[in-house]
Amino acid sequence: MAEKSLTPLFNLNDHKREPKFTNGFYQKDIISVTQFSHDDLEYIFSRTDEMLEMSRQWGTCGLLKDYTLACVFYEPSTRTSSSFIAAMERLGGKVIPITEGIQYSSVSKGETLIDTIFTLEQYCDVIVLRHPDIGSSALAAKYAHVPIINAGDGAGEHPTQALLDLYTIKRELGKVDGLKVAMVGDLRYGRTVHSLTKLLSQYDVSLRFVSPDTLRLPLDLMNNLIDNGINVRETNKVADVIQNADVLYVTRIQKERFNDLAQYEEVKNFFEITPELMEEAKEKMIVMHPLPRVGEIHYKVDRDPRAAYFRQVQNGMYIRMALLASVLGQA
Ligand code: NCD
Repeated sequence: MAEKSLTPLFNLNDHKREPKFTNGFYQKDIISVTQFSHDDLEYIFSRTDEMLEMSRQWGTCGLLKDYTLACVFYEPSTRTSSSFIAAMERLGGKVIPITEGIQYSSVSKGETLIDTIFTLEQYCDVIVLRHPDIGSSALAAKYAHVPIINAGDGAGEHPTQALLDLYTIKRELGKVDGLKVAMVGDLRYGRTVHSLTKLLSQYDVSLRFVSPDTLRLPLDLMNNLIDNGINVRETNKVADVIQNADVLYVTRIQKERFNDLAQYEEVKNFFEITPELMEEAKEKMIVMHPLPRVGEIHYKVDRDPRAAYFRQVQNGMYIRMALLASVLGQA
């Protein structure tokens, strides 16, 4: 028999879950890099530095112990999903990972994605979403009552990747202004390139684009760079850019975005960064790649200290720690 007057389980006044910081990020969605001002970037990067120091000294902490993240991936992912999970766990938070066996059904029908979001937001405080349709995160954010973080919307954007890319450039080379950044590979479908070029247009950089003719940077992005006064040039040979590049940002040809696989076959072996090619590069430069690589960078290049792509992976976790804590009002 239940007791008539129960002793309360919780003293709810004991411990209140309140935002400590209500800066520009609190409860905000992270959908596109265009939402970040220069000051926002500096803020996130300095919080990221703190996350790095904390992780190295303590390993974990309890900053987000009262919060839960739902990680919803309708497309494959190794780094993005695991780094968000690692980020949340390092900050003491909980994770609902929905990454396997999730059925993709067209958002244009207007239902499945939104219903999934309406369901998951009952359980969590923030949602990270990867989905094959351009605009899917913006759509989810329109309806959701918790912040949505875009972890890749088809060939659209990948804002958290661009933040970690920019952070890596700053950390490795000490600055962004004045650099020559060469982007190589699938510039048409590569969402990391789309987001990073938009972010870099806030800085005084020169951009070189290297791709097969069929995979050039979309015209609207190119025009946007030119309107921002960025010095840009296109070529289809890595040899044209390797000597002057401070950053060589290499990307995979995005097989899954091709309607015609014969077209993919034509360009799939377009280039490879080899130790021989690296001999022509500057002594102080970095090679980056959002990964996965499928033959664009020879494994022997990994031993070159200029190969920054695995350090870039680690930075991704710190950036995501800073972002999660900021949208939840704890940083
Ligand atoms: C990228 C992506 O998913 O857009 N990967 C990642 O998030 N690190 C790049 C790619 O898939 O080629």
